[in-house]
Amino acid sequence: MSQTTLPTTSPNGAAGATAAAGPAATAAPTHALGFSTLERELSADELQLHGTLPQWLAGSLLRTGPAKFEVGEQRMRHWFDGLAMLHRFTIADGRVSYGNRFLESRSYRAARERGRMVYGEFATDPCRSLFRRVQTLFSRGALPDNANINVTKLGERFIALTETPLPVQFDPRTLQAADVRPYEVPGELSTAHPHANMADGAMLNYAAKLGPRSSYRFFEVPPSAPGAGPTKPRVIGSVPVREPAYMHSFGLTERWFVLAEFPFVVNPPALALSGRPYIENYRWKPERGTRFTLVDRASGEAVSGFESDACFAFHHVNAYEEGGEVIVDMCAYPDAGIVQDLYLERLRAGKPITAAALTRFRLRPADRSVSREQLADSDIELPRINYRRSNERPYRYVWGTGTGPSGWIERVVKVDVSCAATLSWSERDCYPGEPVFVARPEGEREDDGVLLSVVLDAAAGSSFLLALDASDLSEVARAEVPHHIPFSFHGQFMRS
Ligand SMILES: [Fe+2]
Repeated sequence: MSQTTLPTTSPNGAAGATAAAGPAATAAPTHALGFSTLERELSADELQLHGTLPQWLAGSLLRTGPAKFEVGEQRMRHWFDGLAMLHRFTIADGRVSYGNRFLESRSYRAARERGRMVYGEFATDPCRSLFRRVQTLFSRGALPDNANINVTKLGERFIALTETPLPVQFDPRTLQAADVRPYEVPGELSTAHPHANMADGAMLNYAAKLGPRSSYRFFEVPPSAPGAGPTKPRVIGSVPVREPAYMHSFGLTERWFVLAEFPFVVNPPALALSGRPYIENYRWKPERGTRFTLVDRASGEAVSGFESDACFAFHHVNAYEEGGEVIVDMCAYPDAGIVQDLYLERLRAGKPITAAALTRFRLRPADRSVSREQLADSDIELPRINYRRSNERPYRYVWGTGTGPSGWIERVVKVDVSCAATLSWSERDCYPGEPVFVARPEGEREDDGVLLSVVLDAAAGSSFLLALDASDLSEVARAEVPHHIPFSFHGQFMRS
């Protein structure tokens, strides 16, 4: 039986605390299936559907995520390391078709052809010499392009993204990768969470340029045709930095890019010389606090000097300007321990993950002060909003995932940020992924639409696409997939 409740508090106590370890904490938990390899690639014309999808819902949910956790003798160590697989759910006339395919990135092809890892991943490295490690920092030819974090659309190009400067273009029907890179990235590290410039459809993102003088660079890429070569970005603004922070996303208001530098930082030469996998070069330095920088979207001018207590986040939720303040909402953790929590050995053993709190920062440019508050009791991650309507603006609703008694993600949640009211969907032995909001085309309310979430049904040993009414989280329909889909990160709904 599924449940929808209002309101709810976190089953783990206050968000930000470590989720309580349930009985599954010592034995392999049922959700461990979500961290196991899926080798099967298929194309299914029609999935078995329960319920009725609305006629207006037409398009494809495209998702990427790790799906292969070993290459030859080598085992991936971290959830973020797995080789990327693309999944496509196409909805038309109330029916759902499905396809999945490994993303034929350079990383994937090299692993397949040589039977071993060739490129380093987030927390797993192939064996290589000091010479190769030094080469890695300075040569794009040595960087991985295992785009397992997010997908986006830039003009008519469909693109899979990771945090290296090597986006992978693919065909949205066949899921086949293209040989051409869609655009250049002006740096060595970037995010898989670009924003859209609503006015012209350009992509906005930032990159960290590493070297003797490192900097963060915000850049813009105009849309281009699928067959065009790599598009050159326009660098809008640049902020010098000595030790770059690990940042997985950033905020955008009508006027500003919002950079939140958490004190989880790297000394760039260490990346080349330490011999450790990428993320293990970052150090937690809480004495630095969390530093915010605003970069003017028009002039590139930076306004810095905003400081708050140390915290960590992967995901900004939304940002906007109001009454002389810049409001910045994110899913915040007390520290960077979540990165450790997501090592596969821990996850497969059922160790609980730290829960994120929906946190609002108010930045006052007049005096550079920052205040901070928690917006809801429930924990929340993998946040989504009604982006087209609400990004850069005051808003009410955020949807995401929440942890449960197993210590892993067990709920789809909806938070009304204006009053902290929270709704929650859950079902026994079911583990949902990121709920993607799709607005009803004629809808007037901010939450008029459906949520699409890929759910692992651990008891059945397979996954299904779940459609929920975004306003009350009641079930609209579900479409059964004939295999399990390993837990993935992000996807986008592309309308037909
Ligand atoms: Fe993300």
